[in-house]
Amino acid sequence: MKGLGLLLACLLCIFTKGLQFNGWSIKVPSDATGEVGKSVVLPCTFTHPHKTFDRTLTAIWRIKEPYNGTVVFKCVAHSSSELCKTATSYKNKYKLLGNPRHNNLSIKIDNLTWSDSNRYFCRVEFSGDLHDKYEGRTGIRLHLIAAPRIINITVSSNEDHTFKALCTADGEPLPSLTWTGPLSSNSSSVTSMNHQITKELHHLTHDGKYVCTAANSHGRAEGAVYFYKFKGANSNSILILICIALGVKALLLLVIAGIGLLLGSESCWSPPAKPCSCGCSQINRLHLVLGK
Ligand SMILES: *[C@@H]1O[C@H](CO)[C@@H](O)[C@H](O)[C@H]1NC(C)=O
Ligand SMILES: *[C@@H]1O[C@H](CO)[C@@H](O)[C@H](O)[C@H]1NC(C)=O
Ligand SMILES: *[C@@H]1O[C@H](CO)[C@@H](O)[C@H](O)[C@H]1NC(C)=O
Ligand SMILES: *[C@@H]1O[C@H](CO)[C@@H](O)[C@H](O)[C@H]1NC(C)=O
Ligand SMILES: *[C@@H]1O[C@H](CO)[C@@H](O)[C@H](O)[C@H]1NC(C)=O
Repeated sequence: MKGLGLLLACLLCIFTKGLQFNGWSIKVPSDATGEVGKSVVLPCTFTHPHKTFDRTLTAIWRIKEPYNGTVVFKCVAHSSSELCKTATSYKNKYKLLGNPRHNNLSIKIDNLTWSDSNRYFCRVEFSGDLHDKYEGRTGIRLHLIAAPRIINITVSSNEDHTFKALCTADGEPLPSLTWTGPLSSNSSSVTSMNHQITKELHHLTHDGKYVCTAANSHGRAEGAVYFYKFKGANSNSILILICIALGVKALLLLVIAGIGLLLGSESCWSPPAKPCSCGCSQINRLHLVLGK
C-alpha cells in the first residue's frame, strides 16, 4: 500500500514537473552548479492558461521548500510595458535576468557563498482583474564548487615548548593538504569540518621554510611559514617565526637580512606575544618569540 502511494506521488511529481497542470507549468532544471565568489544563473520558465494578461505580475523565488520557504527575491511589474521592479533581493545579490512577460523568471545570484547552497523554487502570480498563481514544486538544487584557498597558517608552541605548524584551507570538493619542510618532518594529523580542513605538523625540528599545499580538482593554493631559531649569547634561544604567503619571496629575503642586522644589536626584543599567524596573500605579521 505504501509502495503504491509512493508510486502515485512519484507519478504526480513527474506530471507537475514536466507536463501541464490546468495549463500551468513551471520548467526548471533539477540541479545547477556555481563557484564560490562567482555568480550563477537559475533558469525558470512557465506556461499559463490565460490568453492575455496585462495586469500586475509578481515573480518570486524562495529557498528551502515550496510555498513556505523564505522569499529571497520578488519583483512586481504593474503592466506589460513596465519592467519588473525588485521588491525583495536578499543581500542585494539576486537579479532578474529573464523577461516575465515572455514567461521567463530566470535569476542570477551574485557573489556566491557557502550559505547559498540550497533548493530554489520559482513562482509567478497574476493580480488585477485576473487572480491566479503557480509555483514549481520541484526546486533547483544549487551545488557549490570552490578552488582551494589557504585560510590560515600558524606556528604555535606545544605545552612541552616544542613547536607545531597548522594550515587551514577550504574548498569543494574538500582539498587535500600537504606540508613540505626542510626535513620531511615526522608526524602530522588532519581534521576537517564542512568545507574546511586543517593539517597539523606536530614537531618542528629544523629551521627553514614550511610550505602548505592545498589541492582539489578545481585548483591548488600554497602558503608558507618560515621557522627560525637563533641561539642567544646567554643561552636563551631566540625563536623567530615569519609567516608569509608565497609570491613575495624577494621581500622576505630583505626581511631576513633585516633581522640578521637587528640580531647583531641585541636586547631590543620584546617578550613573546601570541603565536604567529597569517592569512593568504600578504605578510601579516612578523613575530619574535623568546624561548628557553
Ligand atoms: C510551513 O512552515 C511552518 C513553520 O515554518 C510549518 O509549521 C508548516 O507545517 C509549514 N507548512 C507546510 C505546508 O510545509
Ligand atoms: C530566459 O532568460 C535567460 C536570461 O536572459 C536566458 O538565458 C534564457 O535563454 C531564457 N530562456 C528561454 C527559454 O528563453
Ligand atoms: C561578496 O560577499 C562578501 C561576503 O558576504 C562581501 O564581503 C563582499 O563585499 C561581496 N562582494 C561583492 C562584489 O558584492
Ligand atoms: C589562525 O589560527 C590561529 C591559531 O589557531 C587563530 O588564533 C587565528 O584566529 C586564526 N586566524 C584566522 C584568520 O582564522
Ligand atoms: C618527532 O620529533 C620529535 C622531536 O624530535 C620527537 O620527540 C618525536 O618522537 C618524533 N615523533 C615521531 C613519530 O617520529
